[in-house]
Amino acid sequence: MSVIDIDALRKTAEEEITAVSSGQALEELRNKYLGRKGVLAGLTAEIPSIAPEERAAFGKKVNALKGVLLAAFERKQASGTAFCPSGGAVAGVDISMPGVGQPAGSIHLITQVAEEVTGLFARMGFSVEEGPEIENEFNNFSGLNIPLEHPSRDNFDTFYLKSPGGGILEEKDGKLLLRSHTSPMQIRVMRSRRPPVAVVVPGRVYRPDAVDASHSFMFNQIEGFLVDRDVNFSHLKGVLESFARGIFGEDIRMRFRPHFFPFTEPSVELDVSCIICKGKGCPLCGRKGWLEILGAGMIHPNVFRNVGYEPSKYSGFAFGMGVDRIALLKYGIDDIRLLFQNDVRFLKQF
Ligand code: DAH
Repeated sequence: MSVIDIDALRKTAEEEITAVSSGQALEELRNKYLGRKGVLAGLTAEIPSIAPEERAAFGKKVNALKGVLLAAFERKQASGTAFCPSGGAVAGVDISMPGVGQPAGSIHLITQVAEEVTGLFARMGFSVEEGPEIENEFNNFSGLNIPLEHPSRDNFDTFYLKSPGGGILEEKDGKLLLRSHTSPMQIRVMRSRRPPVAVVVPGRVYRPDAVDASHSFMFNQIEGFLVDRDVNFSHLKGVLESFARGIFGEDIRMRFRPHFFPFTEPSVELDVSCIICKGKGCPLCGRKGWLEILGAGMIHPNVFRNVGYEPSKYSGFAFGMGVDRIALLKYGIDDIRLLFQNDVRFLKQF
């Protein structure tokens, strides 16, 4: 006996599913057939009252119907995006609703410029390495041939670390301080490795400067150095020229001015032709036509002695530049504080 025509039931259900045009209606229909008190549950409840000889066949049909309906609902749900551009949504999804925007983050301008600069040197074979921001006097000063009486060793130019009791912290290589430049990595690297070495070091440095449009107590530098046999000033010039063209453009011109740094001899400062006026003179370059970009020179023999390299055997060059200054120049920004205030409205422009 089969009082219930399961085939007819299936046909009706399939027609109803096909006809549905909103997510809510689909849910209601699903409930009608597959819900806890739905048609399928009713059929299952009927099974015990079916004549024993027909019971198994009936049970099978009910099961088959369940499978067919589950599949039909699933197909309909999956096709949801195809049938409701503005009308009803399927299963609670209204595809015409505006999405929830996820604001995209971006890399800080200083990091971008630092990566660009180190990337240029990396392509020339330099490795990129970082050092600690807490240094000692040997690495920050004495190792670099900066004598005890040099003014930058004064408290006013360096942040020394104090113990909670107020005394300046000290270890075997001297007082502890916040590094005032990235040059101490020359000492760290050369003390731990034999030539040839070619390294660039990006990182934060600290000086007790009053904050204004061009100064900050914390800023960013990139140090670079290369040591091998027979390294001369032409190598330095070639490397810096390649860097300057890479960062400011092929038509940039360079000039070296003699300078003094304790850790290099001879020492120079590198100027590039003004990126705004191309050398004619404008407010950016103070009408000089040139912009100072970095300090450099051939590594002083005393520095080699301090790290255990033989000055008669090796030679090398070093250079150091301010990343913030390069970012300001490259993007025409007139106040260094903008780089540190972390105002997203400013930073997201880059
Ligand atoms: N350390 C210097 C500074 O902070 C920059 C510098 C100049 C680094 C000349 C060098 C160099 O390696 O050769 O002002």
